[in-house]
Amino acid sequence: MRPIKSGNMEKITANDLKIERIRENHEVKGFKSYEQELVDFLLEDALNNQHHQISVTYLLFLNTGELIGYVTLLNDRINLEGDLKDIFRKKGIGYHSLPALKIGRLCVDDRFLRRGIGTIMIDFSIKVGFHIFEKYSGCRFILLDAKRNYTNDPIHFYKKLGFKELKERKKGTTPMYLDLVSDIKLSV
Ligand SMILES: CC(C)(COP(=O)(O)OP(=O)(O)OC[C@H]1O[C@@H](n2cnc3c(N)ncnc32)[C@H](O)[C@@H]1OP(=O)(O)O)[C@@H](O)C(=O)NCCC(=O)NCCS
Repeated sequence: MRPIKSGNMEKITANDLKIERIRENHEVKGFKSYEQELVDFLLEDALNNQHHQISVTYLLFLNTGELIGYVTLLNDRINLEGDLKDIFRKKGIGYHSLPALKIGRLCVDDRFLRRGIGTIMIDFSIKVGFHIFEKYSGCRFILLDAKRNYTNDPIHFYKKLGFKELKERKKGTTPMYLDLVSDIKLSV
């Protein structure tokens, strides 16, 4: 089912919400998305994957306590191929791959679409990427696989935020990347 467009509604800002790492006692059952697979992941896998140290899921709550979105992060690497390989070669960087933070899942509750929450979660992920680099470890890119078969094509959303398409294709998805040094566009 196509989501109800809420384009005319007031934008939500980072001041209107809080972000918490998912815990056992968080109530997530009321979360709704036209992408049922992403609801199922939140209900069935997010906490379990975190227990096994595979990924970390962050929940976005309005200050009233309502759950409005989530983003799941994990470590990854980007294979340097084609133009990207050339760009880095010119900088004197000859590695085959570079370290990245991956957005494994990202979803906004249907009732809050087009109000800036997806953008806030991308900005949050970018900040986590910078934080990893500043405090702990190398992290040059943000990566994700945009699902082309979703009812609502998210590629435009990611491109607007500075992501580019990777040449390599996977079935049903478009791998995308954002270079934390060259492509950054923070909006909050
Ligand atoms: C994709 C998604 C995360 C976007 O979140 P959102 O909070 O609605 O996005 P924002 O309000 O931050 O949108 C910022 C801009 O991106 C663009 N955009 C967002 N959703 C879009 C869509 N479905 N189609 C085209 N452009 C879109 C618009 O230009 C928008 O600005 P505007 O509303 O002022 O025109 C959300 O639609 C979602 O959760 N969808 C279901 C799950 C999903 O597809 N997740 C991604 C998996 S790869």
